[in-house]
Amino acid sequence: MRKSFVKHSLVALGLLFSTHTFAATPQELLKQYEAQAKQENSAFTGFSSDKGASFFKAEHTHSDGKKVSCSTCHTADPRKQGKTRANKVIEPMVPSVNAQRFTDAAKVEKWFGRNCKDVLERACTAQEKGDYIQYLLSVK
Ligand code: HEC
Repeated sequence: MRKSFVKHSLVALGLLFSTHTFAATPQELLKQYEAQAKQENSAFTGFSSDKGASFFKAEHTHSDGKKVSCSTCHTADPRKQGKTRANKVIEPMVPSVNAQRFTDAAKVEKWFGRNCKDVLERACTAQEKGDYIQYLLSVK
């Protein structure tokens, strides 16, 4: 009885730690993307919130003729709630409004993966990810 209790507690503890392994701040994530961007491009000079702002709003016409941008779901004002195609609410993207944003590296990578493919029909570069986070951090 006692033994199995100890075993279960350890499993629970393990789960707790594994979900916390990815905890981060937006600034830490930016550092990681910076290291990656330097590897991808030796001429990398830093992230730009202006470039991030245009990236966020840029419309891409898909092969099927549909126009999509990040702001299609996240709205043109990232301080506001957005909506999925199925009309589900998306909480604001700006960290000063929504403190949950850019605090979980695994979540961030998962959604960059999905949404970059959705909008750009390719993966985002580390430069684009960094510009985007820099932009959202600059919005107050
Ligand atoms: C089809 C709708 C849709 C589009 C278009 C879209 N997103 Fe999202 N995005 C979502 C949803 C849904 C979530 C997850 C729900 C949530 O986190 O509130 C999300 C979450 C994210 C997150 C997670 C952030 C965090 O820390 O929680 C990032 C990063 C992100 N999106 C980036 C982008 C970028 C960059 C683009 C444009 C290239 C984009 N999204 C376009 C729907 C979209």
